Amino acid sequence: MTENSAIGSVKSGVKSSGNNGAVTDLIETLSDSEVAEIEAECAHLPDRQSAAIDALMIVQKHRGWVSDQSLFAIARLLGMSAEALDAVATFYNRIYRRPVGRHVVMLCDSVSCYVMGADRLAEQVKAHLGVQFGETTPDDRFTLLPIPCLGACDHAPTMLVGEELIVDVQADRLDEIFAPFE
Ligand code: FES
Repeated sequence: MTENSAIGSVKSGVKSSGNNGAVTDLIETLSDSEVAEIEAECAHLPDRQSAAIDALMIVQKHRGWVSDQSLFAIARLLGMSAEALDAVATFYNRIYRRPVGRHVVMLCDSVSCYVMGADRLAEQVKAHLGVQFGETTPDDRFTLLPIPCLGACDHAPTMLVGEELIVDVQADRLDEIFAPFE
């Protein structure tokens, strides 16, 4: 895991989580199902803060991304500061701190994929989707991001589309690769 510079580093609006009325107003209410799922994770962990990534992923699953308001609510539920939780969210590159499209395309930019043409592939994917890294297509279908090694170096170049790992990516198959993702 490394810092997600394109999405995860958004910090604007994250203020002290002290007893400040303005900050309290920013806190959203988590849904009953979100709270239940987070509490289920906490139940088998040594302390509530160990559930930070799981809690962020749970809220992201329900809402598509983690807003500042959601982050405050999660931090309060876990008994930790918003700043500490935001640091976790920033470090973990699959937590989205801005709205994303229905499918997030993550292109591996680590060494094995680089050697196998990841730079050129990135330009071809950008041209195919009509967006740059960190951008979302106008129809909200895809958001394009870089990601470090996906652990499939022997099948470089690789990318994720949503939860699906695509290996041995060939630029002339991009139509076919993206077609199932409506
Ligand atoms: S370097 Fe791309 S999968 Fe490992």
